[in-house]
Parts: sequence; structure tokens; C-alpha cells
Amino acid sequence: MNTRLLPFGDAAIAEAARLVLAGQPVAVATETVYGLAADATNPAAVARIYEAKGRPSFNPLIVHVPSLAAAQQLGEFDEQAAQLASEHWPGPLTLVLPLRPNSPIASLAIAGLSTIGLRVPAHPAMQALLRAVEKPLAAPSANASGAISPTRAEHVLKSLGGRIPLIVDSGPTERGIESTIVAATGGGLRLLRPGPLQIDSESRLGTGIESPGQLASHYAPSKPLRLNAAAAETDEYLIGFGAVAGDQSLSPTGDLVEAAANLFDLLHQADASPMPRIAVAPVPAQGIGAAINDRLRRAASMRG
Ligand code: TXA
Ligand code: MG
Repeated sequence: MNTRLLPFGDAAIAEAARLVLAGQPVAVATETVYGLAADATNPAAVARIYEAKGRPSFNPLIVHVPSLAAAQQLGEFDEQAAQLASEHWPGPLTLVLPLRPNSPIASLAIAGLSTIGLRVPAHPAMQALLRAVEKPLAAPSANASGAISPTRAEHVLKSLGGRIPLIVDSGPTERGIESTIVAATGGGLRLLRPGPLQIDSESRLGTGIESPGQLASHYAPSKPLRLNAAAAETDEYLIGFGAVAGDQSLSPTGDLVEAAANLFDLLHQADASPMPRIAVAPVPAQGIGAAINDRLRRAASMRG
């Protein structure tokens, strides 16, 4: 793939919007670091983020929206969360909140969780793209897995050149480190990742913030899960892939991007089925298949 670099402006944003609406990820600056942005409501587009980054696992991604009003469509704000948001948005703050029912967000973007990390970025490039596509954008830092976060378009090109179609170049980012992440998911606020806002228990801003905290960052099915199954036992719901049809298939044609896009939805479906056990067909470990297998192994071992 040829990676184009266009200077930030109307033409670049129009091209970025066209690509995003066609299901492609594009690199665009926020005030913290460059993000690799894709339509958060399109599961295949989200899968292409992981594929481009070569990430060996699926982490929940931050979902970017243009305004607090847009964020309130997706997450449940309690009073403290609403207060923090009104003080710091637009800006380098991510809030992890309970996901609102019937949200349009692809389950892969939030790794199957019932919470969502939301951010209203201040940077004009990401803001312009959000307003052009009128979709929430999932965007991790725009670097290959294991590499440091990019603060210039050249960093993105070096790390992801040949793997993404477009980088919108708006020069160096102002903050240079990733957003501060605060969870407001069960009464009180917890600092999950320190960042530019320097929110901590000493801070005036941090009234009621416990730091640093850990959230359950992985969805776990409630049933035993068997891997590399060629066929179902009588008490199993079988998730198929390729030649193994199953009750439902991750991808009948053996397409790994499609399989990643369907993974969490099918785990939830299997969990909700009347069968007491879940089995999953073998999935090859190449490319994004490594992340799928990592996730399946965790799902198999996480419940005791
Ligand atoms: O500044 C930033 O935050 C940049 C720019 C592009 O916005 N983005 C970024 O994304 O750093 P990423 O994917 O590198 O980091 C996202 C982290 C995850 O690793 C996870 O720790 C946390 O955000 N996160 C997102 N959603 C979460 C959730 N529902 N529950 C817990 N943690 C969550
Ligand atoms: Mg990162």
C-alpha cells in the first residue's frame, strides 16, 4: 500500500473523510499524539486499525467525539464525570464510562466490554475529521505495536508507512504524551493513566480521585471455552472459522480481518446461547490472527 502524506487543510480532511467512510484507518493529529482513526461503528474498519498496528492483542480503544453532547450519546455520565468533562473538554482527558444501551459502537473497539473510553480532542485536525465524517472515531496512537507514540507525521510514516493509506500532516503535536485516563464507572473517579492533566490525589482538580487504579480491561465469557475445535461436542456452541462452519462463523471465507471484526459479538452470542460450553474452530496465527488467538486464550483461561 502506498502511504500518502497530505498537509492539514480542506483537501486533506476531505480525502481522510472519504477513506474513513470507506472503512479505512487514517493517521491524524490530536493535541497529545497522532492517532490512527477509523469509524468506531464499523467493525471491519476497527479490525484494520489492529491489523495496521500489528498489535498482538486487542485493547479497548479510545473513542473520539466532537463534543460533550456527542459523548453523552455513548456513555453514562454521573455528576463527577460531567464536572470533569466540562472542565477539561475539549482536551487531553479520556473518561472511561458505562456504555449506554443500544450504542452503535463496534464491540471490537471496546474489546467486548460494557464500558467505553471517550475523549473530545481539542486539535483542529481531529476535530475537522470528526465533523466531516459525523461518526465517532476509534483511535489508538498511530504507531506499530511496541513502538513509541508518534508526535510528528514523520514518526507515523516511519512506523506505519506502507500499512495505511493516508497521514494528515499538521506538524508536531503540542502535548507529546497520551491523554490522562480517568474511570467513572462505579461511583468515584479513578486515575487509570497519568497524562498531560496531572490529575492526582493532591490536585485541586482531583477531589475524589483515587490513583492509580485498575479496571477490568477484558471481557470474559461466563462459560468454559475450548480452543482449536474441529467439531462441536453435544453440549457446545461452536464458533466456526473457514471450513469449520459452526453455529455461527467468525468468517466463512477464512478472512482474518472479518474474523476480528466478529470476534466479540460471537463470544457474547455464544455466552447467551442455551449451550453450557463454548468451542472455537482453529484460527491461524498470522497477522491479526495472533491477536485473535491471544484473545481466545485469555477467554479460555480467564474464567476459572
Ligand atoms: O492521547 C491519547 O489518548 C491517544 C490519542 C490518539 O487520543 N490515544 C491513545 O490510545 O493513547 P491507546 O489505544 O494507545 O490507549 C488506549 C488505552 C487502552 O490501552 C486502555 O488502557 C484505555 O485506553 N482504555 C480505553 N478504553 C477503556 C475501557 N473501556 N476500560 C479501561 N481502559 C480503557
Ligand atoms: Mg499507544
